[in-house]
Amino acid sequence: MDPKKIVVAYSGGLDTSVMVKWLKNKYDAEIITVTGNLGQEKDSTKIEEKALSTGASNAYVIDLSEEFIRDYAWNALKAGALYEGQYPLATAIGRPLLAKLMVDVADKENADTVAHGCTGKGNDQVRFEVGIRTLNPDLNIIAPLREWEFKSREDEIDYALANNIPISITKKKPYSIDDNLWGVATECGELEDTTNIPPDDAYQITVSPKNAPNEPEQIKLAFEKGVPVAIDGIELSPAEIVKTLNQIGGRNGIGRLDIVENRVVGIKSREVYEAPGAIILHNAHLELEKLTLDKDTFRFKQNISNTYANLIYDGLWFSPLFKALTSFVNKTQENVNGEIILDLYKGNIIIISRSSVNSLYNKELATYTSDDTFNHKAAEGFLHLYGLPFETMSKIKNKSGVVN
Ligand code: ARG
Repeated sequence: MDPKKIVVAYSGGLDTSVMVKWLKNKYDAEIITVTGNLGQEKDSTKIEEKALSTGASNAYVIDLSEEFIRDYAWNALKAGALYEGQYPLATAIGRPLLAKLMVDVADKENADTVAHGCTGKGNDQVRFEVGIRTLNPDLNIIAPLREWEFKSREDEIDYALANNIPISITKKKPYSIDDNLWGVATECGELEDTTNIPPDDAYQITVSPKNAPNEPEQIKLAFEKGVPVAIDGIELSPAEIVKTLNQIGGRNGIGRLDIVENRVVGIKSREVYEAPGAIILHNAHLELEKLTLDKDTFRFKQNISNTYANLIYDGLWFSPLFKALTSFVNKTQENVNGEIILDLYKGNIIIISRSSVNSLYNKELATYTSDDTFNHKAAEGFLHLYGLPFETMSKIKNKSGVVN
């Protein structure tokens, strides 16, 4: 491999800063950095300046927060995608969008190679590389962290100082943190021992439920075709909705998860997540589906949720199966319209009211009062046939003397 022009996925942190210089030195190639903002509160001019002063010839910093929520998070929400039943997949849905950004910039810049700062035992290398190879199989991919000589953060700092790489040596938290609007993931440090209780500083955007207000905070969420469109009657953009719910949920101690999960590469890892907005939305969306989907679609879709979450986690966002399931999910969402009111109270999400023009709930059929229109007599015939196979089996067993 003899790269001439390399597009680097750049965050401005130590790893990717060292990467820019290391790649430039090793390959004598032109470096272009790309930073996609998925809702992190970072100063984009500073990132650009830093990339240029580290040796990049061009630095792209692109705000993708609306696209991220509209085209990535909303898909996960509509599908009910929670990995291993819990993790809302914030990091996992961000990677395919960043992979697409890198491929687009490589195309525009006529670059032959892309590079990312993922390690050799994480999930993100899988998501980046499978995504990039699906979108443009002609690009070379370099993952410096899998091959470079540095063994520790200190080695990298020494290299940065020796090479005039601007770094801010602050007392770093002992964690590895990945954050975007859909959630924050925190690992390493004390969390590596599964018996340790997460220290307070392992949480970035939520208060502990025990320190949350003593009164519930009530909100009303409106959905159209499975997608949230307004909070308390005020229409907001996709990113604004999630940002607002992160704030409201965060101050009520909502959305903390402490999980051991199965990684793609075969190991288990322990991670602490905070996703107040995503978890509020998943709860409300599910409740609206319970009101508006017919029984068979609702039940079938539960199986799809699990497969969909696995595909996202495993880096298969651009696969044919993922596209096919997305079409299925979108079809199911046509009637998922309406409003959910919920109380947020000390880490709990309590649904208190639901309504929809597409509601399949029929009070006259459900009521136990004299308004009841349900045909109770019809249940007799229904049950006669419904239980018939089992009654028949039992009779045959009794006759043949087989006991079971
Ligand atoms: N375990 C999560 C995933 O694979 C998050 C990975 C990044 N976590 C981190 N703390 N840097 O999607």
